[in-house]
Amino acid sequence: MPYEIAPIGVRASLLSGLSEQMVVGHYENHYGKAVRALNDVGRELAAFDAAAPPNRLGRLKQEELSLLGSVTLHELYFANLGGYRRAGPNSGLGRPDWREVPDDFTQEITAGFADTDTWRREFTAMAQSLASGSGWVVLTWSRRHKRFLNQIATDHTQAAVDSAPVLVLDMYEHAYQMDFGANATAYIDTFFRNINWEVVLKRIKAVRENQPLPKEDPSWTTNVPSLSVEELAAQIADGTGVQVIDARQRNHMSLHPDLMAGATWRDPDRIEEWIGELAPNKPVAVYCAWGFDVGRNVTKTLMERGIDARFVRGGISAWYAAGGARALKPTAG
Ligand SMILES: [Fe+2]
Repeated sequence: MPYEIAPIGVRASLLSGLSEQMVVGHYENHYGKAVRALNDVGRELAAFDAAAPPNRLGRLKQEELSLLGSVTLHELYFANLGGYRRAGPNSGLGRPDWREVPDDFTQEITAGFADTDTWRREFTAMAQSLASGSGWVVLTWSRRHKRFLNQIATDHTQAAVDSAPVLVLDMYEHAYQMDFGANATAYIDTFFRNINWEVVLKRIKAVRENQPLPKEDPSWTTNVPSLSVEELAAQIADGTGVQVIDARQRNHMSLHPDLMAGATWRDPDRIEEWIGELAPNKPVAVYCAWGFDVGRNVTKTLMERGIDARFVRGGISAWYAAGGARALKPTAG
């Protein structure tokens, strides 16, 4: 069964000091490519000829492990961003009196470190050690030893045995070069300002209770029907005539020249003006930028008016990450 693109776990436009362009590009290009490559490897493995040389199988399995690690670490990385609170006077890099960490975390981290500052200094120094190379820095909870440790994961594969990642930092150059050039230190500092501690604490709670890591898909809801980008692609391909509506807000559209191939842009604030143009007997798929609120709200309104509508989880960004076709928006749109 192929792996699906997970919606981006952060509202990239609200980050502080990390540009939307860089973070979304990272998600659509690098994360998306990893998911697609993982599925390619899966297809090769499924078709693997038992008579083929075993070392070929070995290489494929190594590739699969590396790609699976890349996919999972990226999903965790995006989802643990987004907790920006305005930096206080003591929030600079390396300050021992840094106070942006919530008290709950300060208490938790003592299962592994003397205090928060000790933990943070080590985490930061490990990230700096990767500045001219690449890899991940991960705060990990060892289930076996009931304690935290910081670890470096190179090639997306190294992980402490029987442990769970609770905070993930991508130190590959593609994660920061666009905004920071070679200044990895500034990126690490900015990452700390953007950590979503609420997400980190939920992960810690789950792993300490021997539960799986929480679901972090911000698109997920059972209140409004939805579909994944893979399901949408299948629906378009089967020729049932799904009507694809791009419901991104006008100001967002003014900054982006493209949209999903085959979609029609409709202003989400003027539903009354275009709802009558929809074919009443054909399903409607509504997407917005990332699948948070806009597509969902438009879908809800359409449903209330008797239209068979669903919103697309992860929005157009997930569509592009999945390799979906894009088209230039009509100039009149
Ligand atoms: Fe990355």
